[in-house]
Amino acid sequence: MANATDHLWMHFTRMASYSAGEVPTIVRGEGAYIWDSQGRRYLDGLAGLFVVNAGHGRTELAEAAAKQAGELAYFPLWSYAHPKAIELAEKIASLTPGDLNRVFFTTGGSEAVEAAWKLARAYFKRTGQPNKYKVVSRYIAYHGTSMGALSITGLPGIKSDFEPLVPGGIKVPNTNFYRAPEHGDSPEAFGRWAAEEIRRAIEREGPDTVAAVFLEPVQNSGGCFPPPPGYFERVREICDEYDVLLVSDEVICSWGRLGEYFGAVRYGYQPDIITTAKGITSGYAPLGAMIASERLMEPFLTETGMFAHGVTFGGHPVSCAVALANLEVFAREDLVGHVRANEGAFRSTLEKLNDLPIVGDVRGDGYFYGIELVKDKGTRETFDEAESERLLRGYLSTALFQAGLYCRADDRGDPVVQLAPPLIADQQQFDEIEQILRAVLTEAWNRL
Ligand SMILES: Cc1ncc(COP(=O)(O)O)c(C=O)c1O
Repeated sequence: MANATDHLWMHFTRMASYSAGEVPTIVRGEGAYIWDSQGRRYLDGLAGLFVVNAGHGRTELAEAAAKQAGELAYFPLWSYAHPKAIELAEKIASLTPGDLNRVFFTTGGSEAVEAAWKLARAYFKRTGQPNKYKVVSRYIAYHGTSMGALSITGLPGIKSDFEPLVPGGIKVPNTNFYRAPEHGDSPEAFGRWAAEEIRRAIEREGPDTVAAVFLEPVQNSGGCFPPPPGYFERVREICDEYDVLLVSDEVICSWGRLGEYFGAVRYGYQPDIITTAKGITSGYAPLGAMIASERLMEPFLTETGMFAHGVTFGGHPVSCAVALANLEVFAREDLVGHVRANEGAFRSTLEKLNDLPIVGDVRGDGYFYGIELVKDKGTRETFDEAESERLLRGYLSTALFQAGLYCRADDRGDPVVQLAPPLIADQQQFDEIEQILRAVLTEAWNRL
């Protein structure tokens, strides 16, 4: 729409890039597809922003929202409760691994991450280790944009404008096996090395100063790095050894994205905290949550104890009602099983692109994939900044969109195209994704 840039300040957007052209404006969604204001249809290859897991156009989720708003539009969770928050917390606790039974609602992912760091700090203060406040996380990982979550985030490009950040954010190598600085010939040895890097960081900082390790099951930023074999098993041991909390940041990786309700279940590890958001409501209303183990709540259960934290809209009744209806859809249609049954087909369809000279690596799990683009397949040479700018911003994002595929071309690490379609997607959508990518990536190569 022509007036989109007059007042609307878009997120992570180079506003000037729209001075000459129109902002693409999405007006409608149905299943795995979206339509723009010109009536053009696109395959939603990113589920909005890793959000619309149950797919677009679910009227029953809209009706659940309307019903709740009519009954009780709003009430806080500050000393009072409402039925949908109670019911949803119970439902979430029944799905989480181990005793992650305590659900603290937020409105989104950054707030969940923020709450998890605050809980880790407060927990150790109340249990006699007040100096444990630091957080270990990985380079290039994205954990949100509020000041605490941004300090945990490992992307210098989105941090420097806002420094100084919250002290105590320690960074360790990520699990990009394709570009493994060591042990590039053995995923097991690489996994052990990457986990040991966490141990080394904890020892370097001093174990009595480190409160938590924040890791995504599959690291999104940089282009979908699944954990190497043995990685989480060893990280869990290290966390136990040094009394450090393991936080599984599942803002993307829960609610079926990886073929399980939670990514930690997929990879068989037990976190102390899970942070989640996005797909919990499939985006029909905003909601996030920090889900903590029983032991972490104990210090706050004394007569005068309290976790002194909260947000007005955390656990909004409409959002909780939508989340419950969303999880009913999940159960009725076995969306999680659908991902498990189809993830092999998704992978093998995307792997067909390996015959293109520009495709260096196809990686991911479930319905969550990154395709790394390279200048030289043999040497794995990547693009320099100017080429990356020309390729990704100057051509790919727009060309993919014009060809009918909404997805993400990203160069916060090495250049990647990211795919995370709604979980209802099947072979028809996989083929469509592959065909569009094939045509556009071939043209991109010819233009280099
Ligand atoms: C792993 C992870 N953590 C935190 C966040 C922040 O979530 P939000 O944008 O809802 O604040 C994101 C967002 O993409 C994420 O992917």
